[in-house]
Amino acid sequence: FYYPLPSNEPVLNFAPGSAERELVKNALKELKSKKLDVPMYIGAEEVRTGNKIDINPPHEINHVLGSFHFGDASHVKKAINAALKAKDKWNNTSWENRANIFLKAAELLATKYRPYILATTMLGQSKNVYQAEIDGACELIDFLRFNVHFLSDIYKQQPSSSPGVYNRMEYRPLEGFVLAITPFNFTAIGGNLPTSAAMCGNTVVWKCAHTQVYSAQMFMRILKEAGLPGGVINLIYVDGPTLGEVCFNHPDFGGIHFTGSTGVFNSMWQIIGENTKIYKSYPRIVGETGGKDFVLAHKSAEVDVVVTALCRGAFEYQGQKCSAASRAYIPSNLAAQIKKKLVAEIKTMKIGSVEDFTCFINAVIDEKSFDKLEGYIKQVKKDKDAKILVGGKCDKTNGYFIEPTVIEVTDPRYVTMCEELFGPVLTLYVYDENKFDEAIKLVDSTSPYALTGSVIAQDRYAVELATKKLANSAGNFYINDKPTGAVVGQQPFGGARGSGTNDKAGSILNLYRWLSARTIKETF
Ligand code: ALA
Repeated sequence: FYYPLPSNEPVLNFAPGSAERELVKNALKELKSKKLDVPMYIGAEEVRTGNKIDINPPHEINHVLGSFHFGDASHVKKAINAALKAKDKWNNTSWENRANIFLKAAELLATKYRPYILATTMLGQSKNVYQAEIDGACELIDFLRFNVHFLSDIYKQQPSSSPGVYNRMEYRPLEGFVLAITPFNFTAIGGNLPTSAAMCGNTVVWKCAHTQVYSAQMFMRILKEAGLPGGVINLIYVDGPTLGEVCFNHPDFGGIHFTGSTGVFNSMWQIIGENTKIYKSYPRIVGETGGKDFVLAHKSAEVDVVVTALCRGAFEYQGQKCSAASRAYIPSNLAAQIKKKLVAEIKTMKIGSVEDFTCFINAVIDEKSFDKLEGYIKQVKKDKDAKILVGGKCDKTNGYFIEPTVIEVTDPRYVTMCEELFGPVLTLYVYDENKFDEAIKLVDSTSPYALTGSVIAQDRYAVELATKKLANSAGNFYINDKPTGAVVGQQPFGGARGSGTNDKAGSILNLYRWLSARTIKETF
């Protein structure tokens, strides 16, 4: 079975009066009128513990969408056992039958359940309809289809043979189970991390962020409708330390597919390193972690290109993308124009509920995130070497709203220029237009991360210089564009340094990580 290169799922535009807009509005209404009781999915069972946690839209915290059943160590063990029990049968299911389940899930997402994956992403994660469409619909559909294609390509790759000798590669899954840990900010990452491993014949324990449960359960139900057998992916809701304690002390721990914070990834890596003797094989460790993504404008840049890259790169989905532009280096000759246009544009951004399709900015994910961002903003208001150009208001009366905020600093190593804030806050530093080399050095040395970044310039020499000198500063490097919005199959995604293992989601490289090949030589 060979699945050829697919094309990317077209992005719908939800114009007023369009059929797709009406379908989403109806789905929002329907979901808001219900109180969903969300179980864990372990083996073929739906597990309800009675220990329930409410699900509230971050932009409307007094509304209850339902609740999910929270688990403990016994549920982690149960999920591991279910994964191990399902392994043989799943791994021995033909590639064609395995692939068809994921292709069917992609089809269901693209058609019947598109309004629902959008509505759950919008309500549960406070993502506006356009951001939900490029995430929960298009990117997730693309991950499923492209990964089936990439794996088809891998399975075809075979070594050469010689007279009397037949060599072959058997692309087996990893031994044991795979753990997938997913964050709140992309429904597509929630879907990709467990399915990419499962596609390869692995069975998976999937723990999603509490703030992602609402869309994750929707995707899980879609996978089941597409025919995914019980036990192949087991979705549980538990706290991180409990999960780690059980999984990392298990001899069948085969690998981890993680997206989340650098701190958590570091501590997991350390525990896994200390435990290597108890595992059957060295576990695969794949992680996409933090970012402090930059926009570097050259004195030859077009002002409008810079302003658009900053507005979209820093503020789409409230800056809660690991790829979000959060530090900008602006040349002195263009500084006044860029600041003026940027401030004017930001003032037009409407803030509010996802149910109002004209709101560009919605809420940040939760109170912890709100408090952290408010803390930074309060600090800036006190400090002499930083000032707020626009925004700065924070209000959590009805939802966790933070105004899109631009900070200008005189010290390029000011705290908001270096640390990952994960919110709608952009810090800007104006450099001497004649010292582009120095600005490049600052970009490279200011943060420990290396996820995404952009250079904006019309001068070809400047583009080439930045591309060369910033080779290790970003795994996804953009020229004259925003640093966000990687498309599966077009811009494989991931970074190194403090940003992760750079195993490029949305490319063939990622799939190799979930396989442990056996070479077989047969002599006649
Ligand atoms: N893959 C996402 C982006 O590129 C994070 O914005």
